[in-house]
Parts: sequence; C-alpha cells; structure tokens
Amino acid sequence: MSAFTYIHQSLHCEQRSLKSLALECGTPLYVYSKQALIENCRAIESAFGDIPHLTTYAVKANSNVHLLKIIAAQGLGADVGSKGELFLALQAGIAPDKISVSGVGKRDDEIEYALENNVSAFNVESEQEIDVLNSIAGRMGLKAKILLRLNLDIDAGTHAYISTSKKQNKFGVASSRAVEVLDRAQRLPNIEVRGIHSHLGSQITNVEAFVAAAKALKVIIERLRANNIPVHDLDFGGGFGVNYHGFITHSQLPTESSEGKHLTPSGFIGAVLPILKETECNLAIQPGRTIVATAGVLLTEVLYRKESSDKTFVIVDGGMNDLIRPSLYHAYHQIVPLELTNASSSSVDVVGPCCESGDFFAQDRALPHVGRGDLLAVMCAGAYGFVLSSNYNARLRAAEVLVDGASWTRIRERETLDKLLD
Ligand code: LLP
Repeated sequence: MSAFTYIHQSLHCEQRSLKSLALECGTPLYVYSKQALIENCRAIESAFGDIPHLTTYAVKANSNVHLLKIIAAQGLGADVGSKGELFLALQAGIAPDKISVSGVGKRDDEIEYALENNVSAFNVESEQEIDVLNSIAGRMGLKAKILLRLNLDIDAGTHAYISTSKKQNKFGVASSRAVEVLDRAQRLPNIEVRGIHSHLGSQITNVEAFVAAAKALKVIIERLRANNIPVHDLDFGGGFGVNYHGFITHSQLPTESSEGKHLTPSGFIGAVLPILKETECNLAIQPGRTIVATAGVLLTEVLYRKESSDKTFVIVDGGMNDLIRPSLYHAYHQIVPLELTNASSSSVDVVGPCCESGDFFAQDRALPHVGRGDLLAVMCAGAYGFVLSSNYNARLRAAEVLVDGASWTRIRERETLDKLLD
C-alpha cells in the first residue's frame, strides 16, 4: 500500500496528516516516509531472488544522512560521486567495502580520501584518471581497485541532460577501447583491474535499453577475458525509471494519464538478470531514484491566485530553488491539494516565487480549485529534490522531515538568514 494516501479527504504520509506537518514545520517542506523507503529497498533486493549481488544506493539522489542510515540498515551499500557523499555514506555506517566511487571528474583530494577509507572500487572514466589513481595510490603505498566505465553508445530514450551512454556524452570510455585501456591499466603497479561498469542514464523507462546494455557488456566481458584481462566484477549502474504520473488516484482528483504504469524494479532487473548472470561476475547495481523518489513529497503553500488573459497562475511558496526538476528537465510531478474539498478542477500553471519564467512546478495542469493559504503536495519528490536545491534569490533551503507511522522527526532544520552570511 502506498505510504501517501487520503484519509478522510486529508492527505497523509503513513498515519501522519501532512497538513499537521506543514502547520508545525512551515513550508516549503520535504517529507519522507520511512515505510516507503524500506519498501523500495526491499523491492530491489527481492527482484534478485537468491542471486548474490550488491546494491549500492546512488547517494546523489538524496544524501540526507538520516535516510542513508535507513538504507544502510536494509543492507545496501553506496555509490558516491564526491568526497562529501563518501563522508555521508561513512557517517551513515555503510561499510567501506560496500562503497564504490563514481564520477567523471574526481579531484586528487577526493581520490586520496577514498583510498584512505579503503573503498571497494573506483569506477574510472579515462586513461588519465587511471594514471592519476595509480600515482596517488603509489604515493600512499596502496593498490586501487578499478572498474572501467564503458560508454556503450546506447540511446536510452531519456532526457538529453540525463542520458549518459551515447558517444557524444562525457561519460566512460568507448567499449571498442576496453581491451586496450584495461590491458595497459593491469600493467600499472598500483592498480588492480576488477572489472567493468556501465550506467546508461537516468529515468529510463524502456527496458529494451537495459537488455541491449546487458548483452553488449556480456560480449565485452568475453572479449576481455579472451585477452587475459580479468573481469571479476560487473557494475550495471542505475537509471531505472519510476512512475511520476498518477501516483495518487482519488475520485476528487483529475485523472492522470497512466503512462509508465508497468515500471517496477523487478521488471527491469528481471529482464537483465538472466543475461548478467551468465557472465559469472560479482554483480552490482547503483539505483538512486528507484529508492527515494516515491518516498518523498514537497509541501508548499499557495500564496496567490492570479488570472491573466491566457492563464491562471497558482503562485506557491516553493520554487525552482527548492525543486528544480520541472524547470531543468520539464519533469512531470503530480500535484495534489492536501485537503480535498470537492472543488471542481481547471487548468492552471503552478509557479514559484523566483524571478524566472522557468520557475514552475506544472504548466497547463488540471488542479482542483485552490487559493491563498491552501496547501499542495508535489509528489515523488524524494529523488533529486532537496539535493539540487539552492539559495537562488537568497531563498533559504527547506526543512526535511521523516515520518514513521504516526510519529515524525525533523531530519534537517530549515535554513535561517544567518546562513546567507557564510
Ligand atoms: N550511477 C551513476 C554513475 C550515476 O551517475 C547515477 C545518476 C546513478 C547511478 C543513479 O541513477 P538513478 O537510478 O537515480 O537514475 N538530476 C536528474 C538525475 C541525474 C542522475 C545523475 N546520475 C533528475 O532529477 O532526473
């Protein structure tokens, strides 16, 4: 059962009324469900059945340390993309041997910090990075374990800004060069070649792209082994899409398209597992969005309702600095009132207070009539929400709250004005 449901016309997270949280903590406010987070972790783990694997949660999707602790308690590791993310993963109690380090631009101090902390592997993205890693590890008297990230030149059909495995993207090394690059790497004294990695992109809704990637990786692994290059580990990355449409249905809410309803972790993982298994590698995946997106909402209050000749604007107190996904990727998030009043629906733009026309949460969206003081929930905002927030317009970052049953805790304080002086 979804953790976000209407109870007596009032939207709840588990057993807690979201209105009560908005009144107590103010808006904009991120609210997460512990139950949903745990269920999302379990859905991924159970999709593997009894096949050994490691799920390393992509910390970039949401790096709140309190959420990381819950994810760690489910047995997941972490994939980190910066020193800060590694620090948070360690603080959350994730064992270093369950932490991989990704990223196309790792700084020397980040490499040192990761080596000092004995992470399980570096997913490397260029020959120069391998050389730098070799020399830093040498200086520290260590050996760095690497997986080469391959650019498979597969079009996963996602938004251009979050597509990572087409040849014109900055990520990885062309698969045609895998043998040459890894053969050279395995001769370096402070490098241990462990295997290969690919990550196609994010919010991928087409399972065929993942199947094509799995097949391509299997062929590359055979080629590498035929060239005496060991491939023990295969990290398949993340990118599994979630359903942003029609997350909540109710007779008083406009019907949303049911586009993408079939997307499930077991669907994605089940499709590729038979192929990946045949490689006899240690398998890893790095899901981010699948774990946190549906576990979080952004609450915002309506400040004004403004009619222009063409449009009705619902102006809310949350903006692109709080949740940038609609502005950056034209991403869709369902928006619903916290209290249902039987009001009829009409088409509106839900816009924020920032001084940009691109500051919107929804355009031409059917929404039950809301006015000043009403509260809205922007659904499925747990991934790439708070982590991408900023102080644009010197606006203060939102607070974050975690709900567990009927109780809740503040897991991040709302910023205060003095933060703007730092
Ligand atoms: N592994 C690597 C190396 C990644 O770069 C990413 C995401 C992931 C795993 C996790 O991907 P996921 O399972 O979350 O799709 N800000 C964008 C998404 C950027 C994704 C960046 N990399 C958005 O809001 O849609």
